[in-house]
Amino acid sequence: QWTTSSIVEEQVARIREQVGDGRAICGLSGGVDSAVAAALVQRAIGDRLTCVFVDHGLLRAGERGQVERDYVAATGVKLVTVDARERFLDALAGVTDPETKRKIIGREFIRVFEQAERDLKAEGDYKFLVQGTLYPDVVESGGGEGTANIKSHHNVGGLPDDLQFELVEPLRLLFKDEVRRVGTELGLPEVIVQRQPFPGPGLGIRIIGEVNASRLETLRAADAIAREELTAAGLDGEIWQCPVVLLADVRSVGVQGDGRTYGHPIVLRPVSSEDAMTADWTRLPYEVLERISTRITNEVAEVNRVVLDVTSKPPGTIEWE
Ligand code: XMP
Repeated sequence: QWTTSSIVEEQVARIREQVGDGRAICGLSGGVDSAVAAALVQRAIGDRLTCVFVDHGLLRAGERGQVERDYVAATGVKLVTVDARERFLDALAGVTDPETKRKIIGREFIRVFEQAERDLKAEGDYKFLVQGTLYPDVVESGGGEGTANIKSHHNVGGLPDDLQFELVEPLRLLFKDEVRRVGTELGLPEVIVQRQPFPGPGLGIRIIGEVNASRLETLRAADAIAREELTAAGLDGEIWQCPVVLLADVRSVGVQGDGRTYGHPIVLRPVSSEDAMTADWTRLPYEVLERISTRITNEVAEVNRVVLDVTSKPPGTIEWE
């Protein structure tokens, strides 16, 4: 039986053994996993860790500020922010296939980390890359024995073949609930530890169709409304996460004000889960659904329809791509 403190001790010892007196870069995504992985590595090697936050333009509203403010305040970690919005958008131009998107995003992340490594050369060599890969990420990317590749998580199956870094993955055997307990044990605040999961490829895999700046703006606005209303209704603890998905290549006819519209549907995908390996669709109160629907169709110009995904996992996965 593993206790949380024994997991922390064991992982800190392993990280020290692996990294020695070397230096490590850790990509922070704003999510729990990378936050906890970074905190573990910080405990092991102190300021020989530099965190890199990549703004890939596929973030939700407010996310960048949260990492820059909350995480740095909680940990005192050294943080570099890289504005890579143009780079990711260029790389994703014209791409619609989900696995191709995932591989491009995984590759671009690594290219940004490599550039960060070169920029940090004056401090010393950064040979190690820390990732918050969890056990389910490994399994679902086809890394477990006898498992099928369901989707390539950006930090597992989405890595380029010519990776220059040696990976440090202290959460590789853990599930999300264990990761949260480790985070608490390390003194991370509740706002970070209890944050709902958000995938590394971000909104890029929540636009069904090609990703571009105006579609991202549409989805970001709809997502912000859904999150605001779910929080206001006190439902954050009840749902595991609620992806908001833009069906960018689908249009339907609507009527708004005096006129005909021909806009896009937004899908709400609220799920309840223990570990993301399986999930059930969350029975949200009708009043909350109504508020979200009314606000999105009133406030987000390109959207004239809101639909609810009532599929469990399996057969659906949580994300649409
Ligand atoms: P699926 O869609 O496979 O998602 O049912 C399971 C959980 O994993 C998250 N997810 C990801 N997280 N990188 C991540 O960091 C990824 O590439 C990725 N793909 C999915 C998803 O949000 C859900 O919590």
